[in-house]
Amino acid sequence: MLIRKKILLCVTGSIAAYKAAYITRLLVQAGAEVKVVVSKGALNFITPLTFSTLSKNPVFSDFTEDPDSGKWTNHVELGLWADLMVMAPLSANTLSKMAQGQSDNFLLATYMSVRCPVMVAPAMDHDMYSHPATQENLLKLKSYNHIVLEPASGQLASGLVGKGRMSEPEDIFEAIIAHFHPELPLQGKEVLVTAGPTYERIDPVRFISNFSTGKMGYAIAHALASKGARVHLVSGPTHETLFHPLVKIYNVESAQEMYDSCIALFEAMQISVLCAAVADFRPKKQVTEKIKKKDNSLTIELETTQDIAKELGRRKTSGQYLIGFALETENETEHTQAKLISKNLDMIVLNSLRDSGAGFGSDTNKISVFWPDNKVLHFGLKPKIQVAQDITELIIQMISQ
Ligand SMILES: Cc1cc2nc3c(=O)[nH]c(=O)nc-3n(C[C@H](O)[C@H](O)[C@H](O)COP(=O)(O)O)c2cc1C
Repeated sequence: MLIRKKILLCVTGSIAAYKAAYITRLLVQAGAEVKVVVSKGALNFITPLTFSTLSKNPVFSDFTEDPDSGKWTNHVELGLWADLMVMAPLSANTLSKMAQGQSDNFLLATYMSVRCPVMVAPAMDHDMYSHPATQENLLKLKSYNHIVLEPASGQLASGLVGKGRMSEPEDIFEAIIAHFHPELPLQGKEVLVTAGPTYERIDPVRFISNFSTGKMGYAIAHALASKGARVHLVSGPTHETLFHPLVKIYNVESAQEMYDSCIALFEAMQISVLCAAVADFRPKKQVTEKIKKKDNSLTIELETTQDIAKELGRRKTSGQYLIGFALETENETEHTQAKLISKNLDMIVLNSLRDSGAGFGSDTNKISVFWPDNKVLHFGLKPKIQVAQDITELIIQMISQ
């Protein structure tokens, strides 16, 4: 998403400086070329070695590293190199100097030299942040058309609680993506995706599960994030892996854990895609010791698990979209349409185990999509990555109607 983008990350003397290492990593992993400038104040908190290792570029902190040689780093060249300058964290001190056009160090001289947009993420104690001088300085920066990422409220390093904590690295990353790709249709949307099977423990060594591998859910999470969504992927046990800066994975094991995670996240979501194959039943009794082989048979009494789709459908408010999946072996259309209505879904994706190459484990899938107004779309057999893109496009169309 950031291939060939040149980002100049400037780090100043705040306790949040360590978080700039993670910002560097996110940017590099998204394909950006990153050069880091650190203020003298920042060097009290984090070393250039961290940034040079992560960015794979030299780190700049002064006009000259070796005064005797007369060799110097050209701040003007560095400023003109950048497509975007990001000040994160931005200290009260550097903020004030930026507002006044001071240039008494390398970082500020570079700032004065850039022609590209500037994004700042202030970080300071609550009282420093709310001081009228700081607020005036921020207004000044806004008048220069700089992008100001408001700090968050919460526990501060000083022990105080209030506004001043730097925007989280993922939020800064997302703002950078939004800056370069304002056209992404799911920009700023919070999306829940569930994936994989659940394990329902019989005893400490055995469980009841199903053949879901999580491939479809992970592909959907990736496709949604590629369109700018911030994805919360609640995943049952799976061998699938996914690294995308906009995807946060919540690992769960049982249907109950998946239910709890989904309920905790749901209120803040605009879109939820329930792709996991959640167990419908679990052993009624939790056995703490391994069941020994004594007789020729064993009876395990099962009870139903909590229905995630039904509960989310009940809680859904206007502006929230709920997309379900159905995996059927018979009377597919009837069962799927009944599920769509009974669970208050906005769209449901059917994959039938009767279609070869569809369903669990395979890298392909064949789906039909149903809506409450009886509209139906049938797709051919495709790789799951393409199926995920088709589903994502349908979601985008649905929410923009
Ligand atoms: C432990 C510690 C934490 C600090 N945290 C912050 C902070 O979060 N924000 C801030 O504006 N200044 C903070 N300061 C003060 C700055 O480091 C100081 O103002 C410094 O001169 C900033 O220099 P710079 O803007 O050139 O990086 C902190 C100082 C110390 C010793």
